[in-house]
Amino acid sequence: MKTKRIIVLISGRGSNMLAIIQNVQSGILKDICTIQSVFSNKSDAAGLHKASKLDIPTHVITSKGKKRKNYNEMLLDWLKKENPDFIILAGYMKILSPEIIREFPKRIINIHPADTLQHQGLHGYDWAFENKLITTKITVHYVDEGLDTGEVIGKKEVDISDCRTIEEIEQKGLNVEHEFYSECLRKVLTGKDGKTQRDLFIYYA
Ligand code: GAR
Repeated sequence: MKTKRIIVLISGRGSNMLAIIQNVQSGILKDICTIQSVFSNKSDAAGLHKASKLDIPTHVITSKGKKRKNYNEMLLDWLKKENPDFIILAGYMKILSPEIIREFPKRIINIHPADTLQHQGLHGYDWAFENKLITTKITVHYVDEGLDTGEVIGKKEVDISDCRTIEEIEQKGLNVEHEFYSECLRKVLTGKDGKTQRDLFIYYA
């Protein structure tokens, strides 16, 4: 099987990115994909430094101060030039333009810290806390032109009944995200349909 080339998009600390890099270098994504580069819309994203330290090339196009259309055009030009097999969003906090999504159909994947059927957009863990949930879910999905409406690749439940603060919920959720994202990527990148892996994936659709 040909190794897939991926680009990881981040906006911040990059803990999911780091987990993916570690899995590519010596874990469940080894020999399945290579990381072409890590991209950020913020030059001071902490994840960029972490990626560089692990010898991953990084690239920045600053979104701040640019019109959304101009920024997305620049990003699309760069992505077309790089032509990755998959684009992996890992805490990337900008909305991709329809042009980018149409250029890479079913080749852009996102992780969302909630059930996408119940909560879309930002602050998934705050939402779980405010709604006093005893379990929440992590969703990995393809990105389409809506906000967190793309086809679900996998969902995993997280027991947060013992968490008393948003920080505790986030920490527990992130621990699950770090493992689950790579598990889902492995399924997609090896061409296996996650929908048959009922031990790993819970489906609600
Ligand atoms: C993660 O919890 C991720 O699921 C979330 O941002 C955090 C990024 O953390 N993404 C979204 O909310 C996207 N809507 P990280 O930078 O440490 O990976």
